[in-house]
Amino acid sequence: MAKPVQLYVCQQCGASYSRWAGRCDACGAWNSLVDESAAKAEPPKGISKRGGRAIAFASLEGAIEDPPRRATQVEEFDRVCGGGLVPGSSVLIGGDPGIGKSTILLQTLAALANGGHAVAYISGEEAEAQLRMRAGRLGLAAARVDIACATNVRDILATLDVNNPPAVVVIDSIQTMYVDALDSAPGTVAQVRSSAQELIRLAKRRGIILLLVGHVTKEGMIAGPRVLEHMVDTVLYFEGERSHQFRILRTVKNRFGPTDEIGVFEMTGAGLQQVANPSALFLADRRDDVSGAAVFAGLEGTRPVLVEIQALVSPSPLGTPRRAVVGWESSRLAMILAVLETRCGLTLAGNDVYLNVAGGLRIAEPAADLAVAAALVSAHTDRSLPRETVIFGEVGLAGEIRGVGQAELRLKEAAKLGFNRAVTPQSRAGARPSVASEFELIEINHLARLLSMLDQPV
Ligand code: TYD
Ligand code: MG
Repeated sequence: MAKPVQLYVCQQCGASYSRWAGRCDACGAWNSLVDESAAKAEPPKGISKRGGRAIAFASLEGAIEDPPRRATQVEEFDRVCGGGLVPGSSVLIGGDPGIGKSTILLQTLAALANGGHAVAYISGEEAEAQLRMRAGRLGLAAARVDIACATNVRDILATLDVNNPPAVVVIDSIQTMYVDALDSAPGTVAQVRSSAQELIRLAKRRGIILLLVGHVTKEGMIAGPRVLEHMVDTVLYFEGERSHQFRILRTVKNRFGPTDEIGVFEMTGAGLQQVANPSALFLADRRDDVSGAAVFAGLEGTRPVLVEIQALVSPSPLGTPRRAVVGWESSRLAMILAVLETRCGLTLAGNDVYLNVAGGLRIAEPAADLAVAAALVSAHTDRSLPRETVIFGEVGLAGEIRGVGQAELRLKEAAKLGFNRAVTPQSRAGARPSVASEFELIEINHLARLLSMLDQPV
């Protein structure tokens, strides 16, 4: 008989050890190893080819069919899914507690139900009364959504593995589900992995669209296993500051469409409302006569989004001045500060620097560099930027301004919102965006030009 093998699995990153330790060597988390010995499968002894069937290979050429999609009628949701949900696919939706995952899913299910689809919501977290209460608050009590409270995957399989299963099933959340054949507690890596595996297999077999809710750890990863992200077809993150009313649904992975798409919602007293024109919303409270503010013409996926970048530079009483960033990478800020200092002679070393992307959006594009630099310079010199100006461009370490993609799209969005001036990288010969004629275009090739521009306000 095989000797029982000890197995300890880190609940943060999924690394496994044969011995318990206080700290996971792989991710550095403390006290995250849990005994999952019973879950360890016997290693296969080596398989012979007897009994196996030969696989038929096909060529890459041939008819391609676009996967059939079920549009949910919640356009912002459809957008992040690449135009609708694909039958048999599984979608993982991660996000902080209280951000609105259950709300968006209930609203989406109700929209699907109104479109004539059979839908089910299985909750392992809330009682039926709570689900009804939420539906009542959202004005969706009459929607034909089947609700159930269950956590045992075997029960769920028995219910859904039938000839006419619901078209769409929500599992809220995967961390509460358990497979009774395993000894480990619900929420452990082994349980989450096996529950997800079983449910995904069921979804594939029956053509069900599976929407899984996943909790997020302090570090912002979907709790426990990264493995979950590999198993599903689509990973969406629901982000936003809880204190802000904006919520952004972002595609992190999608086997059926582009990634980095965003859907923008606003949390109101009656649920999440779609925001069709996020730029207008992000710029709603903007005043353009203040210093330290620059409007960045950004791109999220295929969608242009205008946001205001705000900076504050103030003399620091501290030996090591503060650098605080909301909505952008702090390492990128350090780089811009270093370039301003070294290449343009702007000294900010004795100052605290605060940077904020207004509205709660998180920007990852390097194209925001120039707008950040402009906000910083404007804050430092206390000169506001010219009115109705958008800015975009990547800053290199030598202070040079590099071109960015989709200038045309960015400018079009800016024109739509009434901007008529743009500070952009130098466009290559013959590649001047055609909307440029509507703009007073200030093309610059070095950060120093930005400084001299702010010295002589327009
Ligand atoms: P919820 O969907 O339960 O979040 P999650 O499932 O991600 O944990 O929503 C949580 C918050 O949303 C809750 O704090 C209350 C707020 N909320 C509203 O502001 N308006 C509403 O109509 C609803 C349903 C919730
Ligand atoms: Mg919830």
